[in-house]
Amino acid sequence: MADTPSNGAPRINGDAYPFVDHQYDVVVVGAGGAGLRATFGMAEKGLKTACISKVYPTRSHTVAAQGGISASLGNMGPDDWRWHMYDTIKGSDWLGDQDAIEYMVREAVPAIIELEHYGVPFSRTEAGKIYQRPFGGMTTEFGKGIAHRTCAAADRTGHAILHTLYQQALRHHAEFFVEYFAIDLIMDESGACVGVVAWNLDDGTIHRFHAKLVVLATGGYGRVYFSCTSAHTCTGDGNAMALRAGLPLQDMEFIQFHPTGIYGAGCLITEGVRGEGGYLTNSEGERFMERYAPSAKDLASRDVVSRSMTMEIREGRGVGEGKDHIHLHIEHLDPKVIHERLPGIAETARIFAGVDVTREPIPVLPTCHYNMGGVPTNYRGEVVTKNGDDANAVVPGLMAIGEAACVSVHGANRLGSNSLLDLVVFGRAAAIRAAEILSQNEPHRPMPKDGGQYALHRLDKLRNAKGDMPTAKLRLEMQKTMQNDCAVFRTGESLGVGVKKMREIFGMKDRVKVEDRSLIWNSDLMETLELDNLMVQAVVSIESAANREESRGAHAREDFPDRNDQTWMKHTVTWMDGEGKTRIDYRPVHLQPLTNDVQSFPPKARVY
Ligand code: FUM
Repeated sequence: MADTPSNGAPRINGDAYPFVDHQYDVVVVGAGGAGLRATFGMAEKGLKTACISKVYPTRSHTVAAQGGISASLGNMGPDDWRWHMYDTIKGSDWLGDQDAIEYMVREAVPAIIELEHYGVPFSRTEAGKIYQRPFGGMTTEFGKGIAHRTCAAADRTGHAILHTLYQQALRHHAEFFVEYFAIDLIMDESGACVGVVAWNLDDGTIHRFHAKLVVLATGGYGRVYFSCTSAHTCTGDGNAMALRAGLPLQDMEFIQFHPTGIYGAGCLITEGVRGEGGYLTNSEGERFMERYAPSAKDLASRDVVSRSMTMEIREGRGVGEGKDHIHLHIEHLDPKVIHERLPGIAETARIFAGVDVTREPIPVLPTCHYNMGGVPTNYRGEVVTKNGDDANAVVPGLMAIGEAACVSVHGANRLGSNSLLDLVVFGRAAAIRAAEILSQNEPHRPMPKDGGQYALHRLDKLRNAKGDMPTAKLRLEMQKTMQNDCAVFRTGESLGVGVKKMREIFGMKDRVKVEDRSLIWNSDLMETLELDNLMVQAVVSIESAANREESRGAHAREDFPDRNDQTWMKHTVTWMDGEGKTRIDYRPVHLQPLTNDVQSFPPKARVY
């Protein structure tokens, strides 16, 4: 069935959209760390696997990950997966699911060894072991000491891992559909996923992939914000496809602001800088983190550092002409350390801030960096949806992994370097589970008669959008609203204003204008499809935030400054219907670990 235009090309408003039909066991959407790890894992297990990516795989955003990947290898001092588990639960402000967290931190060790064997060029200790640096919130003995747990390839760890994973995928003969934009999932009447429709950006053809299993590995949606460390491609396409397929998104109010984005440009300056001894100062030259986190100081959890920086600026102790940012110092470090372990950030700071890091501080500001929320899954990567009394009902034929998913291992706040770990551990878990549930002899679920029509209608509508509002203008309105009203600190009032504004902006979707009807390299149309995706996630995020009346992790409400476990230790689950109306519900946090090897970590005050 592969690669042949199907008969009876669907016509919409006079235009024909012939499908090129394909059939695979598994189709992975997205070729970042999670997507590639799943892709070659599936292929390795003998499943006929395709990977669709809107960018060339090695340009996926994982390439930008800098500081490292966590695992309790203990190469630089004592370590234990239980300490890693405790840190991750504490970092998550007790919203993370403890079964999934146990799975991730235990699998971390073999996952890193596996990466090493695949050829990831990790930095080395004198003894030739994988080099590990301290990262925020990573401790020994349940908070007593500072752990060296983050395995690094200088400050280009994501780059090293992504290239290695792509090589593995090629080695296992996975098939790639590069520069294909996934438009929508195909669901059957029973609620199972049976495939996905994608647009080939290069020649304008429309492809219908029929699969036993679709895996969403489409990354985060950082681009709902004006200033973010995420690539322009981070538009959460999979999350939006799940919403349109009638599935919920989970914990979307939890959005991480990385403390050290370059002021003005937003580019990431890795937390590894502080791991190597860098520190923050205010306009008085004070190392203010000593006041906010007396023990961990600059290596407190990201939400804590970002809030502390914001308070310093608010209280008039920001640096620069506008007193609106903070200084990050590494001038005191041995230039050899910078050269060997932080070469990338030295270059980034020079290009984007005009700063020579060996002489002057880097101007930084908390910048949107990561989405803890996403498509709800269990620790095997299977998408779950609350179905009546069953809070963990599995959606047949659909998985989600990586930043697109909410497993939930990061809960209300992710620890730095747990993201690359999440990608490889759950990419691998998805492949293991797929091999268990799919038998190659089992037939595909039938393609519904109108399979893919919904995607075509959406594409056709936006292709013919003839309003008065350029996509870029509408996007900017959305980004400014999220930046102003759903930021590091939130109040009921700011969120109320934000919800109202986002609703108005959402209502302007029908005024969008696409200049060109071409289906060949039409970036205007592609950006409009991406904006359509971003917009639903912005609405869901800000409405979920307005609903949660407590402070937990990255969700800091000034009007509800405390965590409220009694009422709010639960995951937010939000649906959106075809008219854009949201429905919010909740599901319990899994407090029980996966095995009896460790006990549940009960909630307690979170101090660093
Ligand atoms: O700061 C960093 O290098 C980012 C790492 C992460 O988000 O895990």
